[in-house]
Amino acid sequence: LKFHVLIPAAGSGSRMGGTLPKQYLPLNGKPLIHHALSLFASASRITSVHVVIAPDDALWSQHEVDHGSKVVVHALGGATRAATVLNGLEAIAGQVAEDDWILVHDAARPGLSMVMLDRLLDSLQEDAVGGLLAIPLADTLKRADAGQRVAKTEPRDGLWQAQTPQMFRYALLKQALQQAGGVPTDEAQAVEALGFSPKLVPGELRNLKITYPQDLQLAEAILLADAR
Ligand code: CTP
Ligand code: MG
Repeated sequence: LKFHVLIPAAGSGSRMGGTLPKQYLPLNGKPLIHHALSLFASASRITSVHVVIAPDDALWSQHEVDHGSKVVVHALGGATRAATVLNGLEAIAGQVAEDDWILVHDAARPGLSMVMLDRLLDSLQEDAVGGLLAIPLADTLKRADAGQRVAKTEPRDGLWQAQTPQMFRYALLKQALQQAGGVPTDEAQAVEALGFSPKLVPGELRNLKITYPQDLQLAEAILLADAR
């Protein structure tokens, strides 16, 4: 059984604003996407790494560095994250076994560490379903009404924030995404819709997703502090 990584990197970063898609923004001296890429490229347990960029992406080649023969790029991004992932899965059919593990990881999460990656693989490699990194919710949750006043405080108990990688077997993941259409915002949701219950494996704050401009400064600070 092998582990393969698929990195959807075809988003436009609309919440980040600016002209450069966020995966190419510099973070501590290198493009955001290179952080996770170099981690996977150097992980001996990972067999191959597939990056799915937008068909009209002119930036990948400008920023390309040699991550070794394990890393393959596919210019097949779709209209949604789920479509991008599905296109990538279809592109590697025949190169992977039906029951090989696929780890889907956001290009916009530069803080994944080898410790978290090993924790995910160790926790799930014998699992029947698969799962994802996630962290228990820390803040109290408020549901807002139309006037942005609190309609309700939602119980926080048992709530987790989903991170990536999300790890499922190739055939199950492809089937789940084919049936779900472009709707799900993560792979687990598509797998859940088939009636399965993915396992939650503890992630860490440093694996945050860069979504808004202030997240860049936060990630830079966390990664620099951890490197000391
Ligand atoms: N993604 C993708 N294809 C899409 C949309 C998103 O490959 N059609 C990727 C992004 O590049 C990112 C990951 O999915 O690595 C997580 O998505 P998100 O954080 O939402 O990124 P964007 O869609 O680029 O940002 P926004 O939603 O603010 O536009
Ligand atoms: Mg998005």
